[in-house]
Amino acid sequence: MKRTISLLIFCFAALFLIPVLSTGAGEYVGAGECKTCHSDIYAAWEKNAHSSVFDILVEGEHEDNANCLPCHTTGFASAGDGTISYEEKNITCENCHGPGSGHVKSQSKTAIDRGDREEVCVKCHISDWSPAFDYEEYMERGVH
Ligand code: HEC
Ligand code: HEC
Ligand code: HEC
Ligand code: HEC
Repeated sequence: MKRTISLLIFCFAALFLIPVLSTGAGEYVGAGECKTCHSDIYAAWEKNAHSSVFDILVEGEHEDNANCLPCHTTGFASAGDGTISYEEKNITCENCHGPGSGHVKSQSKTAIDRGDREEVCVKCHISDWSPAFDYEEYMERGVH
């Protein structure tokens, strides 16, 4: 599942994901793990635009472009010396809900971020890339 250097993930979590991780703490486990208990939501997410945003980068030959990866992958990390990594291609469950290892153990509403607030979306839906973004309207279109 990991694409490059796992050491960097922790640094990134501290720097970039803090607003998302108010309740979801732990390590990334991957969408396949979430599917084992949330198969209906997984099936819906697979049909959502977020599950194929990496393809858009591949089409434009930007799949290694560090300027694009933060918003088209999950768990992106940058060391600041040009070394980058990410956990999964596309926008997967843990991008909005936070790393889920603690939740997989708890199997309850604890240790996971419900993610239902604007700050979760606007780390990517900024005006440069998403000028039409409106939280209520985009939520209505469905996240999964
Ligand atoms: C072993 C089973 C299991 C796995 C694996 C699992 N969950 Fe859950 N999840 C649950 C249960 C049980 C609940 C609580 C349902 C309830 O009480 O309504 C839950 C609830 C949730 C909620 C709702 C929290 C809330 O505050 O309402 C979210 C979001 C969630 N899971 C996301 C995930 C994500 C993301 C993954 C993968 C990282 C995942 N789950 C993996 C069992 C699991
Ligand atoms: C700050 C986050 C962010 C970054 C960085 C980013 N994107 Fe995106 N991108 C988005 C969002 C959000 C959308 C969806 C916009 C919408 O539909 O409202 C999007 C949509 C797209 C689309 C489809 C819609 C369109 O505008 O054509 C393409 C293609 C795309 N991005 C390519 C790229 C490339 C190439 C890069 C790097 C040069 C990049 N993105 C960097 C957030 C980002
Ligand atoms: C783009 C962000 C985003 C992604 C990606 C995402 N979710 Fe969610 N998820 C949300 C939001 C926002 C809510 C709260 C919806 C609401 O309150 O109406 C939610 C709610 C949930 C719930 C609670 C549902 C309920 O009815 O109580 C579960 C479980 C869940 N997500 C699991 C997942 C799983 C599993 C994946 C990956 C297959 C996933 N999510 C991907 C944003 C996301
Ligand atoms: C990690 C970055 C990221 C996050 C977080 C994110 N999105 Fe997105 N979103 C994207 C990208 C990239 C696309 C472009 C997909 C495409 O054009 O195929 C997109 C597309 C969408 C679309 C489809 C737009 C269209 O033009 O069809 C909706 C709706 C959407 N997002 C809603 C949300 C909501 C609501 C949240 C917060 C709960 C959220 N997104 C969080 C990056 C993100």
